[in-house]
Parts: sequence; C-alpha cells; structure tokens
Amino acid sequence: MIFSAALDQRPVIDRTAPVTLAPLDTAPRTARASVTAQLSAWGRGDLADDAGLIVSELMTNAVVASEAGETPVAVRLLLTPASVVVEVYDRAPGFPLLAAAGAEAEAGRGLQIVASVATRWGWTPTTTGKCT
Ligand SMILES: Nc1ncnc2c1ncn2[C@@H]1O[C@H](COP(=O)(O)OP(=O)(O)O)[C@@H](O)[C@H]1O
Ligand SMILES: [Mg+2]
Repeated sequence: MIFSAALDQRPVIDRTAPVTLAPLDTAPRTARASVTAQLSAWGRGDLADDAGLIVSELMTNAVVASEAGETPVAVRLLLTPASVVVEVYDRAPGFPLLAAAGAEAEAGRGLQIVASVATRWGWTPTTTGKCT
C-alpha cells in the first residue's frame, strides 16, 4: 500500500535525497520519472502507477502554488517495509484543502484522487514551507 506524507510510518528502510526542481510545468513529469526509477531500484515497481499518480497530483499543486513566487519544489521518497511515502515540498503560501467536488466540477479533484489511491495523506509545515 502507498500513502503520502511522512506522518508516522516507521521504520524507514531507505530514503532518497530530495530532488529539487524549479516550479515549472515540467516538474510533475520529472518528479514522476524520478519516483518510478527509484521504485524500480527498490524492487517496488508494483507501486509505480499509484505513486506516480500521487506525485503528479501533489507536484502539480505545488507548482501551481509556487509559480508566482518562483520558489523551488522538491520530491522525496521513503521506503518502509510495507509501503512507500511520497513527500512533496514547496515554499508557497496556502495549504492543501480536500474539496468536496461535485460530479460536474472540473477542478478540485486532485487531492480526492490522492486520498483514494493513498493509504493516508496529509501535510505538515516545515521551516521553509510545507510538506504534503
Ligand atoms: N501545495 C499546495 N500549496 C497551497 N495550496 C494547495 C496546495 N495543494 C493544494 N492546495 C489547495 O488545495 C486545493 C485543492 O487541490 P486539488 O484537490 O488538487 O484541486 P485543484 O488542484 O484542481 O484545485 C487547491 O485548489 C489549492 O487551493
Ligand atoms: Mg490539484
């Protein structure tokens, strides 16, 4: 199973260094490729589809929130015995808000997708911004 955000899952078997990116439209794809490659290296390619979806949605939100300030975004992956943790960092104001999007709504679905695919999700402030 997969979940997003480093809440309290222990132990952590391995973790990547943060991959820091400019807040550009290319960042979600780059982050996804990085996550997919690392999961393969860990022998957890089975998680690539779900983790790729999660990182794409979280990184898209991070980029949208960061574009105006041009502050960097980053992704980090943690390997746990049963799962992986996908961490996306940004330095933008605001915070993730899970919307109750109606069936007709075209926006506000990203975090719903994350919540449905991940075992858990959440966000926390950091010294420079936040981690989702
Ligand atoms: N990293 C973030 N920084 C600031 N606000 C965020 C962040 N991620 C999500 N949000 C807020 O949560 C809302 C819901 O996100 P989401 O479900 O992905 O829908 P959408 O991206 O389509 O608006 C966003 O519209 C935004 O207001
Ligand atoms: Mg979104």
